[in-house]
Amino acid sequence: MSHVRLEGLSKRFGTNPPAVDAMSLEVPKGEFLALLGPSGCGKTTCLRMLAGLIEPTGGRIVVNGADVTTLPPYRRNMGFVFQNYALFPHMDVAANVAFGLEMRRVSRSERASRVAEALRLVRLAGYEQRRPRELSGGQQQRVALARALVVQPDVLLLDESLSNLDAKLREEMRREIRDIQRKLDITTIFVTHDQVEALSMCDRVAVMERGRVAQVGSPEDLYERPASRFVAGFVGRANWLAGTAADAAVDLGGTRVAAAHDLAAGAAVEVMVRPHRMRVARAPEPGFAGLAGRVGALVYVGDVAQVEVETAAGRVSVECATDGRDWRRFAEGEPVVVQWRPEDGRVFAAGAA
Ligand SMILES: Nc1ncnc2c1ncn2[C@@H]1O[C@H](COP(=O)(O)OP(=O)(O)OP(=O)(O)O)[C@@H](O)[C@H]1O
Ligand SMILES: [Mg+2]
Repeated sequence: MSHVRLEGLSKRFGTNPPAVDAMSLEVPKGEFLALLGPSGCGKTTCLRMLAGLIEPTGGRIVVNGADVTTLPPYRRNMGFVFQNYALFPHMDVAANVAFGLEMRRVSRSERASRVAEALRLVRLAGYEQRRPRELSGGQQQRVALARALVVQPDVLLLDESLSNLDAKLREEMRREIRDIQRKLDITTIFVTHDQVEALSMCDRVAVMERGRVAQVGSPEDLYERPASRFVAGFVGRANWLAGTAADAAVDLGGTRVAAAHDLAAGAAVEVMVRPHRMRVARAPEPGFAGLAGRVGALVYVGDVAQVEVETAAGRVSVECATDGRDWRRFAEGEPVVVQWRPEDGRVFAAGAA
């Protein structure tokens, strides 16, 4: 049985198009699920409905088999970390963390021990008397997390909790949140617009597009088998080659390459190939789909280099390893062949979502 279930959940603000549009989703107990999508696609709105902070205009929220759609927040037993932490500035760390326990009328002595436990969990023991303004961004973020965890919630809701942190701290917090989530085995819904964060932290990812779930699956599912052009473009980097469908192949600006698809011959298509699944060669090699082109630019990024190649089907970026200095073999302007295994090219109808 699923732990949290959304059934056709909708929210409409006034006469605007729905912010969340008949969204359905099932989250099993103990799962760490990411809601991933571009700004404005309805992630926060969805989370706020789950927490009971705003009322849906349609559909139901079911937790442990019980309909909680109209329950007030304090009766849902969910921990919530807001997009902007929202700590109380005039209260110290201990009081911020204890707030939810006071609301639930937990005794003073139990409060003290649970606050200490939650602060230990987020590695902030000793910071009880500090005010939020005396903490770094990462520390504030951890206070917010402790405040959500201290009520021993059944479900943890995190909204872009890492977006204000610098790259290094962010990576540290990703690991920390993941560890805490595993240790407590707590069903967690984590909102982010950062695909690296979603793929690296979560068991499953639900990609949202305009208030709906475009696809839900494991990180590998989404990256390797995107169900739509939108998902392919949002999760991971992608090259797009414009062409027309042919029999068990695609015509890319005059070159026919093998590609699996079920589109009618003549249909306008786009072939998506990940940059690291492509290689640059001087001459076509057997077993590969390939396109002739000219090297446009060489971009060194440290661990990898991007070789940009202009082809008749569009500009592509090929990722090369920098260790063997592979990328230096090519010069700007040089004629080359861009190649990939036919199974690494995914065909989508052009212009489709
Ligand atoms: N209180 C509100 N009143 C009117 N419109 C709202 C309200 N809250 C959100 N919206 C609209 O609903 C849509 C979804 O907003 P939401 O905050 O859920 O997006 P999001 O996916 O969390 O985006 P972001 O990544 O920028 O945080 C947006 O078009 C937004 O303008
Ligand atoms: Mg948001």
